Amino acid sequence: MGIVYNKEDNTITLHTKNTSYQMKIGNLDYLFHLYYGPTLHDADLSYQIMQYDRGFSGNPYESRNERTFSLDAQPQEFSTQQQGDFRTASIEVVNGDGSYSFSGKAAKITIEKEKYRLETLPTVFANESDTVHSLEITLSDSVSEVDVILLYSVFEEADIITRAVKVKNNGKTSIHLKKIMSLCLDFINGSGMDLLSLPGRYGQERQVERQPMTHHIHTISSVRGSSSHQQNPFVVLCDQDATEDFGKCYGFSLMYSGNFLAEAELDQYDQLRLVMGIHPKQFVYEVRPGETFEGPEVVMAFTEKGLTGLSHLFHDFYRTNLCRSRFVTQTERPVLINSWEAAFMDFDDKKLVEIAKAAKNMGVELLVMDDGWFGKRDDDNSGLGDWVVNEDKIKCGLHALVEQINDLGMKFGIWFEPEMVSEDSDLYRAHPEWAMKIPGRPEVRSRNQIALDMSRKDVQDYLIEKVNAILDDANIYYVKWDINRSLADIWSNALPADKQGEVYHRYILGLYRIMDAIIKTHPDILFEGCSGGGGRFDAAMLHYYPQYWVSDNNHPIDRLKLHYGTSFVYPPSCMGAHISDSGKLVPLKTKAVVAMGGTFGYELDATHLTEEEQKLCREQSALFRKYYHIIIKGDYYRLSNPFETGNMTAWQHVTKDRQESLLSVVVTNLTCNGPQEYVRAKGLETDTVYSVNDGQYTLSGSALMNAGLPIPREVPEYTAFQFHMKAV
Ligand code: DGJ
Repeated sequence: MGIVYNKEDNTITLHTKNTSYQMKIGNLDYLFHLYYGPTLHDADLSYQIMQYDRGFSGNPYESRNERTFSLDAQPQEFSTQQQGDFRTASIEVVNGDGSYSFSGKAAKITIEKEKYRLETLPTVFANESDTVHSLEITLSDSVSEVDVILLYSVFEEADIITRAVKVKNNGKTSIHLKKIMSLCLDFINGSGMDLLSLPGRYGQERQVERQPMTHHIHTISSVRGSSSHQQNPFVVLCDQDATEDFGKCYGFSLMYSGNFLAEAELDQYDQLRLVMGIHPKQFVYEVRPGETFEGPEVVMAFTEKGLTGLSHLFHDFYRTNLCRSRFVTQTERPVLINSWEAAFMDFDDKKLVEIAKAAKNMGVELLVMDDGWFGKRDDDNSGLGDWVVNEDKIKCGLHALVEQINDLGMKFGIWFEPEMVSEDSDLYRAHPEWAMKIPGRPEVRSRNQIALDMSRKDVQDYLIEKVNAILDDANIYYVKWDINRSLADIWSNALPADKQGEVYHRYILGLYRIMDAIIKTHPDILFEGCSGGGGRFDAAMLHYYPQYWVSDNNHPIDRLKLHYGTSFVYPPSCMGAHISDSGKLVPLKTKAVVAMGGTFGYELDATHLTEEEQKLCREQSALFRKYYHIIIKGDYYRLSNPFETGNMTAWQHVTKDRQESLLSVVVTNLTCNGPQEYVRAKGLETDTVYSVNDGQYTLSGSALMNAGLPIPREVPEYTAFQFHMKAV
């Protein structure tokens, strides 16, 4: 178990409970990748490497014209640059002398009994109960005096391996990094694999696409300055015949919120290489003599138990090792109501109190005051940056408003969009140089707002001070942190011309510094991330916030796809899901069943609901509380694929001890005189007997999983069913 460095055959093997990962220091001290997959006890797997004369592949000079040795045909742990490997590189560095070359030879290996740390970037952490070992392998280039340090942590029980990379300049002149990938994984035999990713757009984030690997480079990336709505920094490589329940699946999740790149290349010899890291677009990072650059962490998992098995590994790990908020472990998330779709920016303190009173009657525990409470903010053309309460709207002041909400027995939450500034704002008038603009060019507008230059320390300090001041002024329980545009006009007034290639990355570093500072000062606040809905929904953000708004699209039938796609890597405990007015034909009960696929709340004007609707909502809020431990802490099963034609979508949550479960079904399509449909449960104990919906059925796990539950046929459109199963 753990990490084994066998000095006799020069192999380094990482072992988790069910997986092994092997590297070897081979010919000429290059570091080769030999294996990642189910546990193997065999010592040295280098027998797999067959060497042939490879035409047009380069041979290193030191191999003495040995034509069968080429990095182009060797599985490498970190692909080099300009060394005869023509596949995608893990590094592109301009050395002090202007040359573009890196040839790293394994020079140093250290093993520690704790999780490695990064100074500048978020990482997962080890809990006391975790068995974790870490490995550092230094690849040194003796000519350029550049070291690439590969970092690994092995979480044995969790079946997770993390990787990160550092680049150290030991020379006397600056080097410039143009590409640095945190992960490089070579499969000697890469044929027969599929690539699964989560592309999307505003309102339709994380839809699922699966495609067979063919002989070219498949690129999954974002160059929008954020991980984006359009792609997600997560990919799966799996057997072409892998299903939800069976088959080999590898998952890779990048802990980074800015531009990212994943390249999967099937090469001429059916070798498959995956690299993942910061996107090289407009990335030129100077590393001065003695300095070290850090690349973000990648979290990797492997299972033979299909896509559901893979999701479970990520869900379990991200629930326990990613975010330190008390809302992950100790405190249950409140049922909230958000003012956005209730009033947009047209509200005052009285209106908010009215919404809160009505919502109280619906079992709501927290009122969130969304966009519109600060500066001059009656529409989205002004006010961003002025984080002071607008007392024309909040006439009684924030403190008194929060007291009124608290007096109702409810908690209070507030919205911020700290990274942005409006041209029509006091902040912009005072500090136009803080906005990102390219000198001499008019900036690109998006929602008529401009990004602040988060790479600047003075901007970071301003935001930390302003946000903290609001949080200290009143009894704030919850913060929604939003960002509503992609970045353009990448330029920092605080950096010289030759450092502008660092701005994208420095923006993200600045953002992490701000969030870190605010959260550390207010550790008890529940933070929810948001980006024009569910853009920038990534593991790094979930390091800071235990939950994230899935999408501005609250239509319950679209939400089935949104939750389905998001669940491939992120657990339901982080999915912000609300009932709204969207979906006029969909019954309120169905909206509630769908919102119970995540953190559950409301996004509507509660004062407009009838007494009967409020009562139904009250019952649904109570059900969420009742099922909280199953939904937020249990295993999640995708029972059907909403992207495929079918008449219903079903999913299921099962407690870890398999004694309780919640199976949900939404009828999405009605057919005349259709067949009787059944839903088969998953994850139960075969021999355990369960009472379904307090005695509607009493059935064994075996019956529920193999025969299934009949779904009534003649029902109104978009009817939903919930089956609560409890062991008797
Ligand atoms: C986008 C978010 O997704 C919405 O929920 C809302 O907070 C608006 N921004 C406010 O501008």
